[in-house]
Amino acid sequence: MKFFIDTANLDEIREAHDLGVLDGVTTNPSLMAKEGITGDANIKAHYKAICKIVEDKVSAEVIATDYEGMVREGKELAKLDDKIVVKIPMIRDGVKAIRYFHSEGIRTNCTLIFSSGQALLAAKAGASYVSPFIGRLDDIAIDGLDLIAQIVHIYQNFGYETEVLAASVRHTMHLIKCAELGADVVTCPLKVITGLLKHPLTDAGLAQFLADHAKAASK
Ligand code: E4P
Repeated sequence: MKFFIDTANLDEIREAHDLGVLDGVTTNPSLMAKEGITGDANIKAHYKAICKIVEDKVSAEVIATDYEGMVREGKELAKLDDKIVVKIPMIRDGVKAIRYFHSEGIRTNCTLIFSSGQALLAAKAGASYVSPFIGRLDDIAIDGLDLIAQIVHIYQNFGYETEVLAASVRHTMHLIKCAELGADVVTCPLKVITGLLKHPLTDAGLAQFLADHAKAASK
């Protein structure tokens, strides 16, 4: 399973990268705004800075919602670095844009997926990744993990190469459940990944080992 970090914060991306388990980064316009990154030139410079930190797969989202605009913006983003994956919303013109980028060999991440039908459409158009938002479904009392299971099942039925990128992941159990269900990728804040580290028996066991070692050394 691949781990992506869902942030535009360079320090957090560096920290996740230093941990040695990071496979990519996803951003969105809200995350860029949260970091105070505005204006076309600053946004592009920020994507380049992110690409310098990680090995591959940096999702950069288009703002346009019409086909021509998405193609123009996506081409500009893809030109910034080979690591860029163009992030396209699941709307009618988005599906057409995904098909275009697929034919040009440019990777895409189809975002704002909330149903298995949308995921099927994105895979048929040739998306490299689909991003089902599980936390946002949970927020409205629809089980987001059920959607992951449905999409994984449908893609397996037909052998689609599109990767299931579980997004809007809010906690560590989401990540573990996505792994059990066979999601190819999970994107989440760093604390969701570091949550995997924690176990009280590990802490207690290590404290005991160190205490025993110190006692023996002092004899
Ligand atoms: C995915 O690519 C999105 O950036 C993200 O996961 C959205 O998560 P949120 O629902 O926590 O904003």
